[in-house]
Amino acid sequence: MQSPFLAACRREPVPHTPVWLMRQAGRYQPEYRAIRARLGFLELCRTPDAAAEVTVMAVEQLGVDAAIIFADILLLLEPMGVGLTFEKGNGPVIHRPVRSGADVDRLAAVDPAALDHVYEAVRRAVPALRVPLIGFAGAPFTLASYLVEGGGSHDWIRTKAFLYADPGAWRALMERLVAALTGYLNAQIDAGAAAVQLFDSWVGCLPPADYRAHVLPHVRALVRALRPGVPVIHFGTGTAGLLEAMRAAGGDVIGLDWRVDLDAAWARLGDQVAVMGNLDPVALLAPIPEIRRRVGAILGQAGGRPGHVFNLGHGVLQQTPVAHARALVDAVHELSARR
Ligand code: CP3
Repeated sequence: MQSPFLAACRREPVPHTPVWLMRQAGRYQPEYRAIRARLGFLELCRTPDAAAEVTVMAVEQLGVDAAIIFADILLLLEPMGVGLTFEKGNGPVIHRPVRSGADVDRLAAVDPAALDHVYEAVRRAVPALRVPLIGFAGAPFTLASYLVEGGGSHDWIRTKAFLYADPGAWRALMERLVAALTGYLNAQIDAGAAAVQLFDSWVGCLPPADYRAHVLPHVRALVRALRPGVPVIHFGTGTAGLLEAMRAAGGDVIGLDWRVDLDAAWARLGDQVAVMGNLDPVALLAPIPEIRRRVGAILGQAGGRPGHVFNLGHGVLQQTPVAHARALVDAVHELSARR
């Protein structure tokens, strides 16, 4: 398959800048909301035909250069035995959070087969697509933050207090997550994922020294355990203070949020790595001419260098008009081909 997306991940020249959107399948789409009226969120994730359908629908609606399998980073926590539910309005809840070394010891080892429904969704989506499919998982820190907090957080106080108070238990937790993630991501690749993304959405809350000491070695071990030759996208938000360390941890592509200038971030990362990003998701609420202007500005910062995958700096917001997401994709293709 001649794919601009895979070529850009490998820093090879492309006819136009490839683009896909984090959370490109979701509640901003009327078709997605119609499916969710019939199926609960976890039910949708556990039904391979429906998950594959939602995955493919987003690609067809937007004209993006890559698909991402419809799933959730928290699915991996279910087979650990912590009790996961999604509650309307409140987001995810972990009913038996991890608050001590003894809690870490009680976590069940994950048999990759427990997530067969995800691999089956990959196998069903791939033949229906003309673009590569991205597999994904949460990175160890972000998954640990849900386990320790018991759900989402805005300050990650419990997570950081756990790490600072008991680094030995933290290390054991990271090692368990890396073991589970290795089997999970390699099984997605074996099922047909052509690239994988690690979502370290909340890692930006850490001081850089703690990232280097208590997160980086585990991400590095994970990236090294993945099937060789499959591009790895390493994404986080709030990571302006961590970019060099994330690069050292690994990944063929570093995902940038919108709080950094793409050109300055890329200069810090060096030209031996590709970058993904980094339009503010809120920009999709602006009129289309403004979206196009901002796309042009980011393409200008990338400067036509090989190794840029266009994306938002984080997931598509629920308030996004579908026509604006579509206009973004068209603008990236048109303006980058013209350069
Ligand atoms: O990108 C894609 O299109 C693939 C699908 C995808 C989902 N979640 C579907 C989803 C991906 C890649 C994720 C990753 C994910 N999940 C992350 C990392 C990315 C990020 O946003 O930082 C995180 C932190 C989660 C955890 C999660 N899942 C939360 C906090 C929530 C609730 C928030 C909310 O919007 O209510 C979810 C639910 C979720 N995951 C939805 C979707 C489409 C909404 C569920 C619904 O339909 O009601």
